Amino acid sequence: MKNKLSPSIMCADFFELKDTLHLFKKAEIEYLHIDIMDGCFVPNYTLGTDFVKFLKGNTDIPLDIHFMIENPENKIGWFDFGENDYVSVHVETTKHLQKLLLQIRERGAKPMVAINPATPICTVENVLENIDAVLVMTVNPGFAGQKLVPSTLKKITDLRNFLDNSGFGNIEIEVDGNVSFENAKIMKEAGANIFVGGTSSIFNKEHSITDNIELLRKMIL
Ligand code: DX5
Ligand code: ZN
Repeated sequence: MKNKLSPSIMCADFFELKDTLHLFKKAEIEYLHIDIMDGCFVPNYTLGTDFVKFLKGNTDIPLDIHFMIENPENKIGWFDFGENDYVSVHVETTKHLQKLLLQIRERGAKPMVAINPATPICTVENVLENIDAVLVMTVNPGFAGQKLVPSTLKKITDLRNFLDNSGFGNIEIEVDGNVSFENAKIMKEAGANIFVGGTSSIFNKEHSITDNIELLRKMIL
């Protein structure tokens, strides 16, 4: 399965955003990770409907929209997304997960289900037909710059084995939260193939974004 990068745009320098998007295009970045928070499911607000509309109008890099919002079935219609975009919703935020995933697929996007560190893998067992990926949160969602929750590493492996043994080897695994250069290597070996790069890798301020992308790609070879 191809390893892909999805930089977390909430970690970007918005003064440099136009140049950063051009640089991502040149570096053949596969997705732009867009965190949407409602201040209820997580104690924070980040990016919103107008920002997603702006991105859709200014880049053709597919989006990887991560909804950290309560009752997403009532709100995802406010957002621009479609073919080639990944759209993830948290299993913890809806009573109607299967219907919600169908809604995303019907709009031409790729459904992804997200699970918090304490949420068991079995919660996705009955929607494998409806998803293209599982997002394993490797931190508790809400903020950038947090430290990895160690138990999530074994969870990645357990999930990879569960998917492969259930006949769903095509379902991808995305990891999100403290995907540092070192952690990315371990996460890849554990079975992840989509890496959300934030403050501890792609937007690490000690080096240029270009150098960070190159190093992160090397670590997940
Ligand atoms: C956290 C977000 C992540 C976060 C990643 O709730 O979902 O995408 O921005 O930032 P780092 O990589 O710094 O943990
Ligand atoms: Zn995220």
